[in-house]
Amino acid sequence: MRLDKLLSNMGYGSRKDVKKLLKKKQVNVNEEVIKDGSHHVNPDQDTIKVNEEVVTYKQYIYLMMNKPPGIVSATTDLRDKTVVDLLSKEEKMFQPFPVGRLDKDTEGLLLLTNDGNLGHRLTSPNKNVGKTYFAKIKGKVTEKDVIAFREGITLEDGYQSKPATLKIQISGDVSEIEITITEGKFHQVKRMFEAVDKKVIYLKRLSMGELQLDTSLALGEYRELNEEELTYCQSLN
Ligand code: URA
Repeated sequence: MRLDKLLSNMGYGSRKDVKKLLKKKQVNVNEEVIKDGSHHVNPDQDTIKVNEEVVTYKQYIYLMMNKPPGIVSATTDLRDKTVVDLLSKEEKMFQPFPVGRLDKDTEGLLLLTNDGNLGHRLTSPNKNVGKTYFAKIKGKVTEKDVIAFREGITLEDGYQSKPATLKIQISGDVSEIEITITEGKFHQVKRMFEAVDKKVIYLKRLSMGELQLDTSLALGEYRELNEEELTYCQSLN
């Protein structure tokens, strides 16, 4: 790829800024000063330095965030703060987007990446990747609901949801449950409980397939996926 494009992608400013760097002889490739932005480099083989600092090129970014409530899962929004707004300048440069939306009031595991293929693999209903949520429910969740969810709930618009696994942790006026679904329809979990006359009052995503929310991440914090997590995501072909 072109040297100026690579440097610009890696945060060294616009093509114009990069041109200045090159003109000032601050860039070298394999120990040779390069002044021409159109110079072709192979990021896997060439050693590129700016002011004697090695530039490590990467194309994709994969972040796990513990999404806080009150923030929308989008890249931009006219009214609300978005999950991308929570990222630093360095990460924003990669133009990541959230994989599989969470509602504004939902917390928990959210993946952000600029790798469209991976996004598709995790969210496509055909892949049957289970998404597990913890929820607090207004109303007494019972074994009858467990059976109904296992059989597939009919939502208010007539949509027949796929079988879901419901585990009751506390059954009371306010119940606590874990639910695993393989689809990601709009407000899916909330609508499933509405269909059995109950209301979700707190919702947090715990996992997507084998990808578990890192419990050391406070709300709003994020980190890059580790090797094992990345290998898992890439295995979902
Ligand atoms: N189901 C919902 O109702 N909301 C979410 O944010 C995720 C799943």
